[in-house]
Amino acid sequence: MKMILFFNLIIFFNVFIATISSSNAYIPDASLSVPKIIKRHGYPSETHIVDTKDGYLLEVHRIPHGKNIKQYRNFPVFLQHGVVASSADWIINGPKKALAYQLADNGFDVWLGNSRGNTYSRTHKSLSPDSEEFWNFSFHEMGIYDLPATIDYVLERTNRSQLYYIGHSMGSCMFFVMCSMRPEYNYKIRAQISLAPVAYVHHMTSVLNSLVPYATQIQKASNWVSKGAFLPQNAASKLVNKYLCGDNAMNSALCKKYIVYKMFGEDSVQFDMALLPIILGHNPAGTSVKTLIHFAQEITTKNFQQFDFGIEKNLEVYNCSHPPKYNLSNVIAPIAFYYAKNDILADPLDVVELYSRLPNRLGINLIKFDQFNHVDFLYSKNVTEMVYQSVMNTLFKAEFADWIPEIDNTTAFNVSSDYNQCYDERNARKTKNGFWQKITSFIKRKEVYPLKNYMVEDHEENVRSRHTIKNAWNQTHFE
Ligand SMILES: *[C@@H]1O[C@H](CO)[C@@H](O)[C@H](O)[C@H]1NC(C)=O
Ligand SMILES: *[C@@H]1O[C@H](CO)[C@@H](O)[C@H](O)[C@H]1NC(C)=O
Ligand SMILES: *[C@@H]1O[C@H](CO)[C@@H](O)[C@H](O)[C@H]1NC(C)=O
Ligand SMILES: *[C@@H]1O[C@H](CO)[C@@H](O)[C@H](O)[C@H]1NC(C)=O
Ligand SMILES: *[C@@H]1O[C@H](CO)[C@@H](O)[C@H](O)[C@H]1NC(C)=O
Ligand SMILES: *[C@@H]1O[C@H](CO)[C@@H](O)[C@H](O)[C@H]1NC(C)=O
Ligand SMILES: *[C@@H]1O[C@H](CO)[C@@H](O)[C@H](O)[C@H]1NC(C)=O
Ligand SMILES: *[C@@H]1O[C@H](CO)[C@@H](O)[C@H](O)[C@H]1NC(C)=O
Repeated sequence: MKMILFFNLIIFFNVFIATISSSNAYIPDASLSVPKIIKRHGYPSETHIVDTKDGYLLEVHRIPHGKNIKQYRNFPVFLQHGVVASSADWIINGPKKALAYQLADNGFDVWLGNSRGNTYSRTHKSLSPDSEEFWNFSFHEMGIYDLPATIDYVLERTNRSQLYYIGHSMGSCMFFVMCSMRPEYNYKIRAQISLAPVAYVHHMTSVLNSLVPYATQIQKASNWVSKGAFLPQNAASKLVNKYLCGDNAMNSALCKKYIVYKMFGEDSVQFDMALLPIILGHNPAGTSVKTLIHFAQEITTKNFQQFDFGIEKNLEVYNCSHPPKYNLSNVIAPIAFYYAKNDILADPLDVVELYSRLPNRLGINLIKFDQFNHVDFLYSKNVTEMVYQSVMNTLFKAEFADWIPEIDNTTAFNVSSDYNQCYDERNARKTKNGFWQKITSFIKRKEVYPLKNYMVEDHEENVRSRHTIKNAWNQTHFE
């Protein structure tokens, strides 16, 4: 039944695209690669290849300085895009507006990351992107492999010990994974800025949420069709660009209504329709289906936790029947948040809950515009006044050591954060005899969501934190 619904959706979408047509003017920023666009606008542009510990080759783009300014500030800035996006996100809004250009104009050395599996990072030392093994990753691997490799590379190239990190959406999520699993990287971050931060996602109201019940089917279908790749930048997305979201007025209206607003939140004031061909020339840039399944699990379990393989495999991988939660106490890098009321992906309730659990907080800023949505952080008309000026101020202030909270570099981290969570379970397992163990694991395997038991405990935690959220809500500020 669900399967039929799912295929109907796909058919509907294809017919929808095929029945609409329009003519399209040539827009260079929509079809050129990121380094070429940067160069086209008169900025210096470099391309670097970073190899990760597990063999992926990532393309990193750099704008080492502004058009004329040759003076470097003290810290490089690393920008990390969100899910199914690419480094293009940071330049789509064009010179004067887009964050990458503005940072370069202000003397920063700007580095734009590309996570594994997207348009620019589809290469591996030994695996082919046509193999299932290649797509066997989620934001977890991006956090523990991609980010550390890229950060080390940038620091080595620039001969610095620290950098600024700015992440949009999943770009912040990967950061929290890195700092909780590989806490030594906290010290390499001067300050982190999260735009539309994502980690808890259970209040999400985006149309994407309604796909969660179909997660398993989507995974099966995609393994069959694409070996686990999701929305790679190919002919299909070019078609959307050309036919559904072209410059014809009716197409744009449909595109706005059915694609942009349903996914990211309705904003007819700040969303710049003129940018749409450029946005869709670069997005979707592809990721793995496993990444989406991992997010779907976070929605279902209301937790920020590692990938759930199912009980049997969890025991093998985690020595525990359920996946361990990411330990946010380990994320001690100084962090500032920017979030928006009309962000239906990074819901304010989820954002404030996440913020309240971080130990080193530089400030949480609610964008002072009620319609501001998830992608307005990148593409909106007034993004400079509304977001980037404050972001820039945060970076300038962070250059002064006394403004940054002291980080105790003797902190004892516990990376195996499942220790406490799984200790009781392991003890119980030891005392159980083999027969009962088999019976209980058989019963548990029958459950659709094996995490039920843990959700009860978390429910109380949520009620408690909801209280904190309510109080925190009015304390948010914007400078
Ligand atoms: C995917 O990775 C997990 C470890 O994260 C491993 O246990 C599993 O066997 C891999 N699956 C495939 C198909 O490579
Ligand atoms: C790197 O920085 C250190 C101190 O910050 C300096 O002593 C050294 O000369 C620098 N190396 C290069 C190659 O610039
Ligand atoms: C799993 O936990 C048990 C009990 O604490 C321990 O004896 C065993 O070494 C652990 N296995 C792995 C692979 O970590
Ligand atoms: C947005 O920018 C336009 C033009 O730059 C300006 O006229 C307008 O007042 C700005 N709106 C806000 C809300 O800042
Ligand atoms: C911790 O910080 C102190 C003072 O800043 C420094 O002397 C020491 O080497 C640092 N220790 C580590 C392990 O980084
Ligand atoms: C999380 O990390 C902190 C500090 O590293 C540690 O004290 C705490 O026990 C950890 N929590 C869990 C559930 O492992
Ligand atoms: C870290 O985990 C170990 C067990 O592996 C535990 O004995 C220790 O108390 C934990 N440390 C912290 C700081 O939580
Ligand atoms: C927040 O402030 C508004 C007015 O500024 C007030 O009406 C509302 O009750 C406050 N909410 C909480 C949870 O304190």
